[in-house]
Parts: sequence; structure tokens; C-alpha cells
Amino acid sequence: MKAVILTGFMGAGKTTVGKRLGEEWKLPVIDTDDYIEKKMGKKISEIFEEDGEDTFRQYERELLPTLPIENVVITTGGGIVIQEENRKWMNENGFVVYLHCDLDQIISRIEGDSSRPLMKNNKEQIEQILTTRLPFYKDCNVTIDTTNKSIAQIIDEINLEVKKSIGGDNK
Ligand code: S3P
Repeated sequence: MKAVILTGFMGAGKTTVGKRLGEEWKLPVIDTDDYIEKKMGKKISEIFEEDGEDTFRQYERELLPTLPIENVVITTGGGIVIQEENRKWMNENGFVVYLHCDLDQIISRIEGDSSRPLMKNNKEQIEQILTTRLPFYKDCNVTIDTTNKSIAQIIDEINLEVKKSIGGDNK
């Protein structure tokens, strides 16, 4: 099965949903943030603080083409879609699922989370970031709205879409 790649804004549920999909489909899950943290031996917040956001974006860009493209679930950092070459790689090599979520719910889920440098911005700034990114997120195979939905519901919807698009029993 083609790699299933989850994108979406911070707090949309990518990591939780990705882990559950991996369990259900018995596939490995690669999380780009985790991968970068392990490789660099630093937390994302430290990379932003010490090396700057551009360096973090470079790590994301360099990482993607090294990832497997079959039989894997890839969960991505919320800003992976900013760079055109990342969108191109994801769309060429995977089945890209954008997990959408309303801003208010995003904020209530991750407000004050110090591990996410961009959450230091105020609500208007966060909204601006989301608005700017929306067209990039929409550059995907399928959009799933996660607002007010349980993880089980989200998983069901993804399963349906993946079956429709990739065919068969996800294999
Ligand atoms: C970011 C989202 C984060 C992480 C970094 C930047 C973003 O990942 O990659 O803090 O630009 O939206 P999550 O979406 O998993 O929070």
C-alpha cells in the first residue's frame, strides 16, 4: 500500500490518529517531528530557539525524500506543507490526508503548549498562519474534518477514503 501521509495544523490530531492507523493497519508510523528531534538530539522548541525556524524547515525538507513510500503511515509537522517541494514529494509519493480542524478547537486543544513554538503567537496571528496555509493543506488527496469528532470517527472516515482511493483492504 502507498504511504498514507497525514497533514494538518497543530492540534488537528495527526499524531494520535496516525498512531491508531498504524495499529489498525499493522504498519509502522513515522512522525517527522519525532524523527528530527531524535536525529538532532534536540527538542523542536530548542531547534527553533537555537537554530531558527529556517533550519527546522531545512531539516523537514531534507528528511522527506529519505522516507519509505510503501506500507507506512507518515505523520507530519503542521508546517511541512509550506514548502512547495514538500507538497510535491508528498503528492507524488503518498496518499495525502489533510486533517482539518476549526481554529477555536485547535486553540483549546493546544493552548499554552510550550513544546510548540508557534503557539507563542496570539489568536489573530495563529489564525493568519492557518489562513495562509489553507490552500497548501488543500493540495492533498482528501480532506477530513476532525472538528467535534472522536478518534474512532476520524479513523472510520480515513479507512473509507483510503479503501475508495487505494482500493482493496488497504494492502
Ligand atoms: C509546526 C508544527 C509542529 C512542529 C513545529 C512547527 C508548524 O508540529 O513541526 O512546532 O509550523 O505548524 P505539530 O503540527 O505536530 O504540532
